[in-house]
Amino acid sequence: MTAHAPILLEAIDVEKCYGKFAALGGVNLRVRANTVHSVIGPNGAGKTTLFHMLTGTKAVSGGRIVFDGQEVTHEPDYRRVRRGMARSFQVTSLFLSLPVRENLRLAAQGVTPRQALNPWHEPVGPRALSQVVDSVLAKVGLERMAGTPAGNLSHGQQRRLEVGMALAARPKAIFLDEPTSGMGIDDLEDMKQLIKGLRDQHTVVLIEHNMNIVMDISDTVTVMQLGRVLAEGKPNEIRGDDRVRAAYLGNMITGGKG
Ligand SMILES: Nc1ncnc2c1ncn2[C@@H]1O[C@H](COP(=O)(O)OP(=O)(O)O)[C@@H](O)[C@H]1O
Ligand SMILES: [Mg+2]
Repeated sequence: MTAHAPILLEAIDVEKCYGKFAALGGVNLRVRANTVHSVIGPNGAGKTTLFHMLTGTKAVSGGRIVFDGQEVTHEPDYRRVRRGMARSFQVTSLFLSLPVRENLRLAAQGVTPRQALNPWHEPVGPRALSQVVDSVLAKVGLERMAGTPAGNLSHGQQRRLEVGMALAARPKAIFLDEPTSGMGIDDLEDMKQLIKGLRDQHTVVLIEHNMNIVMDISDTVTVMQLGRVLAEGKPNEIRGDDRVRAAYLGNMITGGKG
């Protein structure tokens, strides 16, 4: 079913140079709607750089990006946010002294520390707003912590709240860059289930080092190496791909850290 879903996001020959160094050497990517599309690869492969290109936080050196049928290649990030892209930032996106619920309410209104200067969202009525906040609280499993200051949450809860901050903007596509980094084993399972459940209402583009999670929840996996796409396919195809094994020297695929 998902194999024939419309393409929501497309990168065409995207390049990024830092001086003479090509961090991305012409990347092509097609992300289908309502899928979990993972981007994996050894450290330095260009995964985060690709996210910067897709979400507009940095300018491309070449190539094109099409989102939801619109050319967005040269649009600034806040315009892309308005079109329905949302990125999960790290702890910097939380107001640590404010309760969880207030954090989500501000995010739903388009106010986060990163985006405070970019008023991109239409005003939302208080009723609709609290509905959005309640539904996000449930999705990220933080209902019981709604009144707790974000700074008092556990690491795993903070990481889930970060995802919630992105969800509060009601995005079409959500970009998650290593959402499980630094997590203990209990928190991993919660995050995995959370991401898996997003596919019903969103499209997920995921950078993730934990291969168990990638193989379990991805519809499509793109493997990057040295700024290029090395392989792409379903989890099973990627697991059995000799080039991918070679790229990792059997390391990540067997569950070790990349
Ligand atoms: N601002 C920058 N200036 C110079 N080189 C950079 C910059 N950002 C990233 N790079 C380089 O680009 C390559 C890809 O980095 P990155 O996208 O962060 O990789 P990944 O997320 O896959 O680990 C690395 O070699 C990195 O050192
Ligand atoms: Mg990275």
